[in-house]
Amino acid sequence: MHGETADDGFRELTEKITRESEFRCTSYKDKCVRRRIAVRMRARGTETYEQYSGLLDADHGEYEWLLDALTVNVTKFFRNPTTYAAIAKHVIPDLWRRGASIDVWSAGSASGEEAYSLAALFYEHARGLEQLGHLGRVSVVGSDIDRASLDAAHRATYLPASFTDTTPELLERLFPPLDDRRTVIRPIRAMTRFEHRDLLRDPPPSEAFYLVACLNVVIYLDRDSQEGLLDALFDSLRPGGYLVMGHVETLFGRARRHLVPVDARERIYRKTS
Ligand SMILES: C[S@@+](CC[C@H](N)C(=O)[O-])C[C@H]1O[C@@H](n2cnc3c(N)ncnc32)[C@H](O)[C@@H]1O
Repeated sequence: MHGETADDGFRELTEKITRESEFRCTSYKDKCVRRRIAVRMRARGTETYEQYSGLLDADHGEYEWLLDALTVNVTKFFRNPTTYAAIAKHVIPDLWRRGASIDVWSAGSASGEEAYSLAALFYEHARGLEQLGHLGRVSVVGSDIDRASLDAAHRATYLPASFTDTTPELLERLFPPLDDRRTVIRPIRAMTRFEHRDLLRDPPPSEAFYLVACLNVVIYLDRDSQEGLLDALFDSLRPGGYLVMGHVETLFGRARRHLVPVDARERIYRKTS
């Protein structure tokens, strides 16, 4: 009851946001989008979706705030350490052994912590084998739709909150202090680059990745978009390449049929063909 009119207003608003911004709002789960829009409505003192829609017309600057709210950018280095431990154990040594160049994609990399963490795993592996001179084979690309997050990724300076899942040993070795922040050591930055890319509209950066990590992104999408994205991630992998999704995500569709679990709990899969 309250539902019907409120829903009509919601649908119109999300269609308008999708039309007028670069964010395909209608492809995300309603529940998540409602929650994020409510944050902006409260901040701007508007009570209905219609009022908020009028405000977007009157004040285009609000789109920037809205996109910031809609793209949930929460992240940190080695977020969910068990996932990174599993990648370090099952994926990195196998890829390192192959001898060829190793392309890695962090899809939805937010402010860069995930991409740098993956590069750090290769760095640590090479260091253990005294093969740091071979790190040039590894190239990590992080991509995100949120430009402010990509700027932060390029700056590569982070507040202490980004390191709460980082061991003291890695913190000291890989992330030297810089004023009240920490940065990322040069060899890891040299392996890593960032690109603006909409996972729902743009093609993957390559179709030859050995490792694709897409963590805490798929969960926000509606079912059709989830399936479309999983197909795209799958297609971006080389045979024998790995997909890492972390333990909150679920794999289904075509990708599920052609990927074998390497670590079922951490949702790490290997492409068979
Ligand atoms: C919760 S963060 C996850 C960051 C990181 N993967 C992690 O697990 O720590 C979700 C990220 O996905 C990005 N994102 C959401 N929709 C996207 C899309 N259509 N294309 C590219 N990035 C998107 C957001 O901007 C945000 O930075």
